[in-house]
Amino acid sequence: MTVAAWLEKAVAHFSARSVPEPEANAEFLMAHVLKSGRAEARAQGSRALPEKQGSHFWHLVQERGRRIPLAYVLGSQPFCGLDIEVTPQTLIPRPETEELVERCLALMKNQPRQDPHVLEIGTGTGCVAIALAAGLPDAIVYATEISREAMRLAEKNAMRNHMARRIRFIQEDLFKAGAAPKRWADLVVSNPPYIPTARIGKLAPEVLREPRLALDGGKDGLDAVRAITASAPRFLKPGGFLALEIGSDQGAAVLKLFSQSGFAEGAVSKDLQGLDRIATAKMIE
Ligand SMILES: C[S@@+](CC[C@H](N)C(=O)[O-])C[C@H]1O[C@@H](n2cnc3c(N)ncnc32)[C@H](O)[C@@H]1O
Repeated sequence: MTVAAWLEKAVAHFSARSVPEPEANAEFLMAHVLKSGRAEARAQGSRALPEKQGSHFWHLVQERGRRIPLAYVLGSQPFCGLDIEVTPQTLIPRPETEELVERCLALMKNQPRQDPHVLEIGTGTGCVAIALAAGLPDAIVYATEISREAMRLAEKNAMRNHMARRIRFIQEDLFKAGAAPKRWADLVVSNPPYIPTARIGKLAPEVLREPRLALDGGKDGLDAVRAITASAPRFLKPGGFLALEIGSDQGAAVLKLFSQSGFAEGAVSKDLQGLDRIATAKMIE
């Protein structure tokens, strides 16, 4: 069978199972099997696919057809130009979170300190901590994670991206009081779980394959945001920044939490889709 015929078969398989963007999914999987780019895979339509590659492709197609997210099937996801390994124990890095990283880099750029101390809460795959370490060559980065499996993967990803010596991963629950020393951080950053519990069941089947611990933000989605906002002042230096990824309808509530916890200059910025997504604030000097 040719590459084109396999692609056609995969598209039919996906369409029958309501997999979104069937053509793109088929092409990404074919590119993975051919170890090529997506456009290259498409351009090789008339080529006969060797049997071994054909059965590998079809195995991947069947997995994706069971609504397993593409990144879990492929085993990795690009993030801020990095290659991040993902497993079902970790959230798949999202494009919105790349914007959180960009915002943090901009905040740190204007800092007088050359070696900012950064704390990421809930590192998952490690994507944010690794991207910040890469973007801030003199920064000292700490990253916490409550899930042991996720933290192990974050360490592996740091090694894979040559940042292992720049980041200290700590397995702990930093939402609890008294978990770390005082006021040493220039930046506390987190993409916390922020989906309200009642909305979880309505998410796409792919998202439901991701760890609940990474998604569920409690009744109003703000449990983790509240805990981080309340505890961040214990870690942040005066003038340091807090940066959070938030739900698109949580901006006003998060700004209120910021001011209740004694932060100044609270601001919410939008993602590329024009939705409120990043909330930042400054620790009063
Ligand atoms: C939304 S995911 C973000 C993962 C990654 N930082 C990213 O942006 O792709 C939230 C992460 O916080 C972790 N987490 C949840 N509760 C936590 C807690 N109490 N302390 C530390 N990490 C926690 C979850 O295991 C999950 O990996």
